Amino acid sequence: MFRVTRRYEFAASHRLHSGELSEVENRQLYGKCNNPHGHGHNYVVEVSVRGPLEGATGRAVDIAALDEMVGREVVGPFDHHNLNREVAEFASVVPTSENLGLEICRRLKRNWKQAFPGEWPKLEKIRIGETSRNVFEVGADEIE
Ligand code: NI
Repeated sequence: MFRVTRRYEFAASHRLHSGELSEVENRQLYGKCNNPHGHGHNYVVEVSVRGPLEGATGRAVDIAALDEMVGREVVGPFDHHNLNREVAEFASVVPTSENLGLEICRRLKRNWKQAFPGEWPKLEKIRIGETSRNVFEVGADEIE
């Protein structure tokens, strides 16, 4: 069994602001990330996939099929966009990296069988780096 990780990048802006908290609570909780005008990050997303080595091709994962899906579902809709305003899921959900990782994982799971109709490969996990110091990881089997 092989584990293959493919790295993608996109730039996006966001504002951390929860509709469930007051203006003061939002400022206290999120600090400068609550700035009304938002700010940007160069996000790095690592998609990890596992599957057996396929004898005929010598590969475990069709990288082109993965690239096509991640481009269509994640990089295309997120790159150079404002996450709060331009990605419907974040109209009411705070676009923290945790929620972003969750949304990316959900999108890939939802489209997985279309890209990979066979038994393998399976989606294993998503890692998302917001800054060089923050990396968030979510397992595909750990979410709904
Ligand atoms: Ni931020």
